[in-house]
Amino acid sequence: MTAGLTAPRTVRTVRDLTGPRGMPVFGNLPELLLGRDEHRAFNRWADRHGPTYLMRYGRDRVVVTGDGPTVSAALRDRPDGFRRVGVNKIFRELGIDGVFNAEGDRWRHLRKMAAQSLNAAYLREYFTSITRSATRLQTRWTASSGRPVDVLDDMMRFTLDVTTALAIGHDLNSLEATGDGLHTRLAELFPEIGRRIQAPFPYHRFVRLPRDRRRESAVREVDALVRIAHVQAKERMATGASPRTFLEALAVGPDFTHEELVGNVMTMLLAGEDTTSSSAAWTLHYLATHPEAQERVRQEALAAFGPDGMPTDPSSIRKLEFAEACVNEAMRLRPVAPTAGLRALRDTVLPGTDHDLKVPRGTSLILLLSYGAESVPDADEFRPERWLGGNPPPASAPLLPFGAGPRFCPGRNLALLEATLVAALACRDFTITPGGGRVKEKLAFAAFPKGLRLRITTVNS
Ligand code: HEM
Repeated sequence: MTAGLTAPRTVRTVRDLTGPRGMPVFGNLPELLLGRDEHRAFNRWADRHGPTYLMRYGRDRVVVTGDGPTVSAALRDRPDGFRRVGVNKIFRELGIDGVFNAEGDRWRHLRKMAAQSLNAAYLREYFTSITRSATRLQTRWTASSGRPVDVLDDMMRFTLDVTTALAIGHDLNSLEATGDGLHTRLAELFPEIGRRIQAPFPYHRFVRLPRDRRRESAVREVDALVRIAHVQAKERMATGASPRTFLEALAVGPDFTHEELVGNVMTMLLAGEDTTSSSAAWTLHYLATHPEAQERVRQEALAAFGPDGMPTDPSSIRKLEFAEACVNEAMRLRPVAPTAGLRALRDTVLPGTDHDLKVPRGTSLILLLSYGAESVPDADEFRPERWLGGNPPPASAPLLPFGAGPRFCPGRNLALLEATLVAALACRDFTITPGGGRVKEKLAFAAFPKGLRLRITTVNS
């Protein structure tokens, strides 16, 4: 080839792609449903067929890709070039009608409010409600010291309390509540979304099951909370004060209907609860099984806040560099949102590492956001050190636990702050050891640990 001239890039079409052979009618769906490790199956197929391949979801053909440039270009071309697929209607039917499933101008408007209520200035505003919940968590663990605890349940209570405070300014206090709290019923929503996405037939439009009644009662409870909080938010905003919660941000500007307010608050509660609680729970699991990392987090927390101190503002969390590295490493090993489903809104060409890909309008894609997690050295090992220095470890494929582009997760900073704070305080004040039983990963729209029990014992007992 003549020096200085570059060869034209090859462009493949969807028809050129190969992929795993599926069954007649059902395609590759049975392997996904029966395997119970959906995203790992996607990753294994990418290892076998190349980072961009074709699979069949029932009768639909879907392009799956873990190729860095392709994933990144599709995520960035939103909302005009691509939209989320499979979830929008299901979310609406479940009463979770907000920024996550909005599109076009409605999304632009809601996104501004959501991003604003999760930015650094707001985090400072409600930092005291985060530390209040952290103190309640310490009290809860002191009371159960030495006994195995359901750590995912504790983390759900913690993250729901934090998210309710920031979304509507209400102190739900699930951490001190007993009985069938809102957190248990909200936790049933993610599995329900997963079931409805994967159902070959939309049975939920024809039958109403007991679990639907429980879920509806959760929406009604949020509805009642929003009704009261919105009156207070309107009154406060009428004084010219600046908004302190998501609901207050929604109370200024164009009027939203009550249903829209509830749908948006439900979205925040859901987006903020299961994802963060799962990541925090996995972090504690890895700290329990890696005593040397636990000791390092303990020393770091003691140096930052002393034996009984609490951080007073979000910036002091920066002192917890190793604890945050543990959270990032746990999220690498156990990504909560390993895939993103998108649909092309117009004909386009997506760049790829070796080939570009012609994508006709209407094509469905599954993006493997954490395919790169398996490409780092000793990928199966928990090695938080690889995250020190502020940059993700070099990976040959996407490592995007929070997505990318304009619809990137606006709750990233809050999630990292919550999980890092919990890890630091747990290691400083308690000794964490495995509580027995086998821990499994379960994918139900998001991935979470099943059967995770830990003994969290007061340090001086
Ligand atoms: C470890 C915890 C979390 C993980 C792994 C996570 C992950 C994600 C991912 C992958 C997306 C889609 C991004 C994309 O399409 O590019 C997303 C969207 C979103 N997340 Fe999170 N998230 C977490 C915590 C939170 C928290 C704490 C909140 C708020 C309280 C939140 C609110 C949202 C919202 C509102 C969206 C939709 C954004 C939009 O469509 O514009 N997330 N998250």
